[in-house]
Amino acid sequence: MTDASTGAGPGTGAAGAGRVVLVTGASSGIGRETALQLAARGDSLVLLARRTAELEVLRRACLRTGSPEALVITADVSDADAIEEAFTTASAEIGPVDTVVHAAGVAAYGRFEEIPAASFDRLFDINVGGTANVARSALRHFDAHELTGNLILFGSVVGRISTPYLSPYVASKWAVHGLVRCLQAEQARGGHRVSLVEPGGVDTTIYEKAASYLGVQGKPPPPVDDAEKVARATVALLDHPPPGALGRSTEPGHVPRLPGLPRRLRPDRRTADVPARSR
Ligand SMILES: NC(=O)c1ccc[n+]([C@@H]2O[C@H](COP(=O)([O-])OP(=O)(O)OC[C@H]3O[C@@H](n4cnc5c(N)ncnc54)[C@H](OP(=O)(O)O)[C@@H]3O)[C@@H](O)[C@H]2O)c1
Repeated sequence: MTDASTGAGPGTGAAGAGRVVLVTGASSGIGRETALQLAARGDSLVLLARRTAELEVLRRACLRTGSPEALVITADVSDADAIEEAFTTASAEIGPVDTVVHAAGVAAYGRFEEIPAASFDRLFDINVGGTANVARSALRHFDAHELTGNLILFGSVVGRISTPYLSPYVASKWAVHGLVRCLQAEQARGGHRVSLVEPGGVDTTIYEKAASYLGVQGKPPPPVDDAEKVARATVALLDHPPPGALGRSTEPGHVPRLPGLPRRLRPDRRTADVPARSR
């Protein structure tokens, strides 16, 4: 995805200009696209993931696209101390973070009983523990700086439905959904805005990177969106908050309630062309 593909150059789309946005999962997929679109609106960015080289490339792209400032932070979201430190560093170097887009996440395929406990636990550490770490640090940071903050967390269509062979991922997204509901209730009266984005199938690297204990690799279920479209929905949620006083929250959704979706989420043995990573 090139800079130009954000559809906007420096200084355009001033709706969000001036925010300081921390984006996790910024090294690829939806997080990366969201960062580029926010850059085009003139937001300063804190780009967080584990792969520093990818983040550095993105940092330069964000500066060319319109970000006044962009900072790279290499961190694992499952490390609560590292996430707390990320907010402190961001605040010291760019200014208090008023917006957080938490897109970091991983997936794993397999029959539940064939997925090693360590793999199940690691996925939960990242998808659930990581979400809790980012949300906790974000809300504390907003309060400490007396900001009305905007926190966007990523669920999934499978945070409301179930499908076989994805049990750790499905369970993690139901957990994120539940956590967001609790945060929304807690923040409902004059607190911070907490939103949940719930994509369906999106063409990103999450599928090829997923561990598979099935002998086949997963793929996005149709209809497949591109990351740019989900990023646009995410940025729109920040630029045009839903009606209601600040502190009210929303679920922008885009939850396709399609018959047969659980079946289509399963890996397809006929078209799979990537060998299982491990078994
Ligand atoms: N793609 C879909 O079909 C789909 C559907 C519904 C929901 N979602 C959700 O959307 C979000 C974004 O996923 P995506 O599709 O854009 O996937 P992606 O392209 O694989 O991006 C995932 C990002 O998360 C980062 N990440 C993974 N583990 C991390 C960790 N422990 N600490 C810090 N960063 C970590 C990765 O960077 P590093 O490897 O550099 O750390 C990467 O930047 C996820 O929450 C995913 O569950 C995706």
